[in-house]
Amino acid sequence: MKIENAVVLVTGANRGIGRTFVEELLKRGAAKIYVAARDTASLSDLLKAGDRRLVALPLDVTDPDQVAAAASVANDVTLLINNAGYAAFDGAISATSIDDARQEMEVNYFGPLAMTRAFAPVLAKTGGGVVNMLSMLSLISLPMAATYSASKAAGLSLTRSIRAELAGQGTQVVGVLAVQAETEMGAKMPEPRLSPLEIVTDTLDAVEAGSNDEVVAGAQTRGIHDKFTANPQQVQAMMSTKLPQKR
Ligand SMILES: NC(=O)c1ccc[n+]([C@@H]2O[C@H](COP(=O)([O-])OP(=O)(O)OC[C@H]3O[C@@H](n4cnc5c(N)ncnc54)[C@H](OP(=O)(O)O)[C@@H]3O)[C@@H](O)[C@H]2O)c1
Repeated sequence: MKIENAVVLVTGANRGIGRTFVEELLKRGAAKIYVAARDTASLSDLLKAGDRRLVALPLDVTDPDQVAAAASVANDVTLLINNAGYAAFDGAISATSIDDARQEMEVNYFGPLAMTRAFAPVLAKTGGGVVNMLSMLSLISLPMAATYSASKAAGLSLTRSIRAELAGQGTQVVGVLAVQAETEMGAKMPEPRLSPLEIVTDTLDAVEAGSNDEVVAGAQTRGIHDKFTANPQQVQAMMSTKLPQKR
């Protein structure tokens, strides 16, 4: 699908990769972008230029009422970008409780599931697509971000099933694999880091090329992905040395 004249909804649009999606979508000629954020005040910087194509939407993806309200208001969406994410960066065993693990699943798994279920009828009508922001950690487990890795693995599995289920209505479903990026979340990971723009550019290029698959976004991700494809056990063994910090 083309981004020019598309109507897009971006979750977690206020900062990081979500915000970069919005800026690039504007450049590529999107007709309207619902910029969704938990706190719409956090969108003020993005909205200050007064671009009338931007429509602020209050949206916590873990809140069923807000998800339903978003699907009712944004009933002209042609591209849904499930970008919002949460990472606690802790171990499965070393974390003091499983509260963060639950929140990671709520935001990274149940969030895209609820959003895609709510928007599937809209996308059937508009002939649109879905982008799910996943991670290279959907494929490889990183002990220092153990429960986040699990939530992103669940997200990849979900993305593949959604793709199959929505194929009948012609909905394109793209999952994005990426390594650490220069954002608040990525700052907790080692350098070098990908630029959010590289992730966004590769993703939107794939969407526009009609991909209905996973996109390996950014040169640094492709380097690791190639190694993983050649020898998954070796890459997992290397990642398994990255243990959570001792308390
Ligand atoms: N950065 C990386 O290294 C990296 C690598 C691969 C994949 N990813 C994935 O890319 C996506 C964006 O990551 P990022 O680096 O831009 O992260 P970020 O800078 O931490 O931003 C996270 C965004 O998600 C929003 N969010 C969190 N919980 C939410 C909820 N319950 N409902 C709605 N929005 C919520 C945040 O909103 P608030 O401002 O309200 O907190 C913020 O807008 C995530 O899915 C992440 O897992 C990131």
